[in-house]
Amino acid sequence: MQRVGVLFVCLGNICRSPTAHGVLLKQLEAEPRLQRLLEVDSAGTAAYHVGNPPDRRSSQIAARRGYDLTPLRARAVQADDFYRYRYILAMDGQNLADLKRIQPADFGGHLGLFLDFAGLHRAEVPDPYYSSGEAGFNEVLDLAERACAGLIAHLRQELLQ
Ligand code: 4NP
Repeated sequence: MQRVGVLFVCLGNICRSPTAHGVLLKQLEAEPRLQRLLEVDSAGTAAYHVGNPPDRRSSQIAARRGYDLTPLRARAVQADDFYRYRYILAMDGQNLADLKRIQPADFGGHLGLFLDFAGLHRAEVPDPYYSSGEAGFNEVLDLAERACAGLIAHLRQELLQ
């Protein structure tokens, strides 16, 4: 069976997109029919951290809230991902612009902002890497929980009806 791919993309693939990845995997545990149909991954538009686990701050705050990010490893997004993933969801506008530059002309899936599924009047998941302390990483998790719930509702409609 060909699974439907969902790929989360940020800059480094060590903070925001692994958080979204871990949250979706966890939320799918309560959705076994949908879980079976999906393949979930995350990647970065930059290659600075390839092979590294998520940022310790992301992992620690996620663990406190019930998500295990520690098995994840960073990788760089590549043009081939557009053939493997139907949903390619960017954390911010710059990530989206970078993805549009490598999007093949025949891509038939959905390339857009992750927070479009959150039902909030916000477009971007703020990058917590340089500036913010714990509050920033908690905010990334809040947004990921909200947007993953919206994404699951959308995917249920599209794939299970
Ligand atoms: P992420 O955060 O895109 O959410 O993984 C960042 C991680 C690393 C860097 C920037 C953002 N960096 O410049 O190394």
